[in-house]
Amino acid sequence: MDSAPHNAGILLEWYQAMGVCEAVDAVPADWFADLPAARPAHAGLAPPSAPQPGLPPRERKALTRLNDAPQPVPPVPAEASGADVMAARELARGAADLAQLRTLLEGFDGCGLKKTATRLCLSRGSPQARLMLIGEAPGKDEDAKGEPFVGRAGQLLDRMLGAIGLTEADVYITNLVFWQPLGNRTPSPEEVQVCQPFVERQIELLAPDLLVFLGNAAAKQLTGATEGIMKLRGKWLDYGGIRAMPTLHPAYLLRNPIAKRLAWRDLLAIREALDSGRPS
Ligand code: URA
Repeated sequence: MDSAPHNAGILLEWYQAMGVCEAVDAVPADWFADLPAARPAHAGLAPPSAPQPGLPPRERKALTRLNDAPQPVPPVPAEASGADVMAARELARGAADLAQLRTLLEGFDGCGLKKTATRLCLSRGSPQARLMLIGEAPGKDEDAKGEPFVGRAGQLLDRMLGAIGLTEADVYITNLVFWQPLGNRTPSPEEVQVCQPFVERQIELLAPDLLVFLGNAAAKQLTGATEGIMKLRGKWLDYGGIRAMPTLHPAYLLRNPIAKRLAWRDLLAIREALDSGRPS
């Protein structure tokens, strides 16, 4: 019997469980093509073990099925090495302006997310903005367009900003990472770490009057805080001499509309801080 379709089904289930839920290219990638010919079929994986006698029948059967199937060598997500982080710092430091930072980032291969994303998704808004907002990671819509916060959460964010009289021309929006994590998983600490020098350099180059951290991930990563966003939100912090406000992520507000009233308080505080800092 040809076991290929059966094994392909098992592999597909595994991909789905790992969060790989959509095609990223028109042409399938052959992840096995570059493997050295002499590499044993089980390289990189623990050798298949015999089904253990103590296992219940269903689990035994599943394990037997897997052990019978040819064992694929899964693509291992690239993790940031110390060298990648150092290269990122060096590169980011060399960017004279935001346009150059974008060009440098286009050529940077130190973040594994780039391999599966469609395109770089760095920022939108104005390089002269007084208000900079930082989210977590681009999603599917952002990946398709190459701009952060353009999906449902982004549309809500635009309406929220509009409610305090701000348009895209008044703000600069970016994320902790600049490529969509496949299957919308949370970016790994290594992926965030390797992108961080570019986040920090954007802050330096833009030199905004105010920073807004959208959600837990950005607030914790950039302030080192350990409390959750519900504790952090609504309070002004100091980020290297810049006033910074953690607030609720618009995606959270879409799921929890009742929390919009908290976000509204934060927005009013942001509006007030912009007005009080404006030269008369
Ligand atoms: N959520 C984010 O954190 N960033 C985006 O760009 C979109 C959704």
